[in-house]
Amino acid sequence: MASERDVRARLRLAGQEHLLRFWDELAPGPRAALLAQLAELDPVALREHCQRAAAACARPPGPCPELAARLRPLPPERVGSMSHGDPEARQRWEEEGLRQIALNKVAVLLLAGGQGTRLGVDYPKGMYRVGLPSQKTLYQLQAERIRRVQQLAGERHGVCCTVPWYVMTSEFTLGPTATFFREHDFFQLDPSNVVLFEQRMLPAVSFEGQAILERKDKVALAPDGNGGLYRALADHQVLEDMQHRGVDFVHVYCVDNILVRLADPVFLGFCVLQGADCGAKVVEKTDPQEPVGVVCQVDGVPQVVEYSEISPETASLRASDGSLLYNAGNICNHFFTRGFLQTVAKWLTLMAWPGPPPREFEPLLQPHVAVKKVPHVDEQGALVKPLKPNGIKMEKFVFDVFPFASNLVAFQVQREEEFSPLKNADGAASDSPSSARRALLAQHYRWAVRAGARFLDAQGTPLPAQPCLPPNEDPPAICEISPLVSYAGEGLDVYLRGRTLRSPLILDETRARELLLAQDP
Ligand code: UD1
Repeated sequence: MASERDVRARLRLAGQEHLLRFWDELAPGPRAALLAQLAELDPVALREHCQRAAAACARPPGPCPELAARLRPLPPERVGSMSHGDPEARQRWEEEGLRQIALNKVAVLLLAGGQGTRLGVDYPKGMYRVGLPSQKTLYQLQAERIRRVQQLAGERHGVCCTVPWYVMTSEFTLGPTATFFREHDFFQLDPSNVVLFEQRMLPAVSFEGQAILERKDKVALAPDGNGGLYRALADHQVLEDMQHRGVDFVHVYCVDNILVRLADPVFLGFCVLQGADCGAKVVEKTDPQEPVGVVCQVDGVPQVVEYSEISPETASLRASDGSLLYNAGNICNHFFTRGFLQTVAKWLTLMAWPGPPPREFEPLLQPHVAVKKVPHVDEQGALVKPLKPNGIKMEKFVFDVFPFASNLVAFQVQREEEFSPLKNADGAASDSPSSARRALLAQHYRWAVRAGARFLDAQGTPLPAQPCLPPNEDPPAICEISPLVSYAGEGLDVYLRGRTLRSPLILDETRARELLLAQDP
């Protein structure tokens, strides 16, 4: 273990000696913990990190003023569409996606290192229950969609296939996620196909460029953003694991979209057939202020501009047909070839070499700045819970690497079928547990009605059949369909055609079997 002297010398080099200011008061246990934490921090990197944070903070807040002039929408030839494309193309994409899954060439990768601050829970968001009749958590829904898509591809091609599930966690989410998965028997997935790994953490920094002490014996650390993915892939040899399994294509997604289609064959097939190395699923953005990034071009290079980095004026610009000019809303569902991820991981290793990194890597080095309330100890060692922002967290974004892609494509999907994120606690105007629950139940109700089901209320009174529901409205009947029964609305006719069922209905595998065995109506 590093000695106090060594660590002090390293901190001096980094200009961060204040991190040891309570050393004399600490008992041996906390001293050892603090030393271990500080010994992990590379002094040169720490100095740069703190200087960069202070410099970023000194810049005027808000979006970069000259960005607007450099933006253009993505050219139409780079954008595929679920709703506007012809059905034959859609079928071709789906076939291709299922073929790649059946060949064991597809993996899914969940970004689950976030702290869920806006939702206000102190456990990983994936463990959240939005109040579905089945009481399923987000993690369970995702695991079951993996099982179902494996089954669909396997049945189509007469094979038994696997979609490995890689889960990037952070110091905050690794322990509880691992325990939760074990307690739930990995949701009946083979544990050897579920790979949890951890992203790095970075110190939170004061506006003056000093790393913040959260306690007398602990530096305040925060995950390095979902773009910490690439370092984490290299740190934990995840790409080698993928290579070993023969995985060529990776669907990366964020934890909180209750409608997420894991390893979506249509999206995968579209990207593969386009020869893309990078892909982004998008929904049409209707409200200029919606907090989603936009897929567009900056100086002619396709990439995502985050909602926090685009000005309200630019976000509100309209095209001649009245639609938003920048309307390709990023839903944090990305496609990558393993080859592309390997290239990025190699660059990161090269950048870690001593000396200045090559110029072309500059964008990878530009972290994004988030100003946050960071609990800390004051000069006297008293704990302070700040009421206004006092610190800077530096983050990388998963799409920071998009400008390096040689063929980036976007794929537009229907919001009501594929996007309802859980960001805020109930009571918020949008993206809350209630809105996520409503979106899923509305979708399942639509699928059931289209498959031919009719519903009765608890008293047996017939309920109206409304295959097209107005947005944000509760469906007339409650119907939840297990992902193990249907992944995207397929195959429901055999259970539901001509049936009249009582609301609430949970159509799980057992109920589906009962319906099959029951007399034809
Ligand atoms: C994200 C997207 C935004 C998109 C929106 C759609 C990024 C940077 N932004 O925004 O463009 O429109 O989703 O819902 O992707 N995470 C980590 N490690 C971290 C931080 C976050 O794994 O250090 C994970 C979270 O657990 C989550 C995902 O990244 O699964 C997205 O993070 P979040 O902070 O929710 O992003 P948004 O600001 O909502």
